[in-house]
Amino acid sequence: MSGKNVTEVRLADAVGIAEAARCLESGGLVAVPTETVYGLAARADSAEAVARIYAAKGRPDFNPLIVHVRGLEQAERYAHFPYYAHHLAATQWPGPLTMVLPRRQDAGLAPAVTAGLATIALRVPAHPVMQALLAAVDFPLAAPSANRSGFISPTTAQHVLSSLDGRIDMVLDGGATAKGLESTILAVRENDTWEELRPGPLDSEWLNLDYKGQDRPGERPSKIEAPGQLASHYAPGKPVRLNALEAGPDEFMIGFGAVPGDVTLSAGGNLTEAASRLYAALHEAARAHHPRIAVAPVPEEGVGRAINDRLRRAAA
Ligand code: TXA
Ligand code: MG
Repeated sequence: MSGKNVTEVRLADAVGIAEAARCLESGGLVAVPTETVYGLAARADSAEAVARIYAAKGRPDFNPLIVHVRGLEQAERYAHFPYYAHHLAATQWPGPLTMVLPRRQDAGLAPAVTAGLATIALRVPAHPVMQALLAAVDFPLAAPSANRSGFISPTTAQHVLSSLDGRIDMVLDGGATAKGLESTILAVRENDTWEELRPGPLDSEWLNLDYKGQDRPGERPSKIEAPGQLASHYAPGKPVRLNALEAGPDEFMIGFGAVPGDVTLSAGGNLTEAASRLYAALHEAARAHHPRIAVAPVPEEGVGRAINDRLRRAAA
């Protein structure tokens, strides 16, 4: 239980997953790999378990959590799916898409999961470990990224321990995550209009064309907001300078493409590779003795939009 101050690290094999399932059943906190980042999971139907997530992360209680489910059928117990949300679920789940949808009155989850909002964020992850865990329990899992609130998100079990060791019950070690950035968040309303609340690994350029075959530009994020999208986030704890072409004398340099660095996001200028390495590079920069961090320019295209979104928040 999360009262004790030892965090067990378990290999994410069948034995580890079964043990994690038992821990979750009794209201514990388990960090679990997903294809995006490691999540800090608790049973979403228990107010006590969900309260522990907020306490372990030091997360403000107005910032709601994503609820992870096995598939569309389970998701429909908790939210109303407008037509377009069905379409997105059919084409993008399982995967790095979170949908914010009108919450069902009879959802029956801990109120703190949704921070009192009339909507709920739902995601069907593709990672085999998270899928096995969801199959092993009979409740959905609330899971924010497994880091202290405001700090860099974890893409390895080691990253999780660096900020949550002693504050959670268990980490399931499933190696480094593939995508490296948190899921794309789209809010879909009853009338089928939608907004992108957070850019992510999903290539959302298709979104503008794909709805009933018509050109359907998304609206500017305005009415619905992701409360967690605060300007300062993913903070490595030292100043970050963006669009740098070379390092200053006291800077740890994160390179990209032709711009070299102490580490590089992708020497070949590949944005997918850069996304998968971003948080590991920021963790390394945070640990380095240099008092400052510089980051090479990353093109604002495809998943580069999501990378630049996180970099701007790291620098804010
Ligand atoms: O890839 C991911 O999405 C990871 C993995 C673990 O699934 N999770 C993650 O969770 O990034 P977190 O808590 O770090 O970010 C969730 C975001 C927050 O910005 C929160 O404000 C927003 O989702 N959110 C959750 N419920 C919402 C709602 N009902 N309306 C608007 N935003 C919501
Ligand atoms: Mg987070």
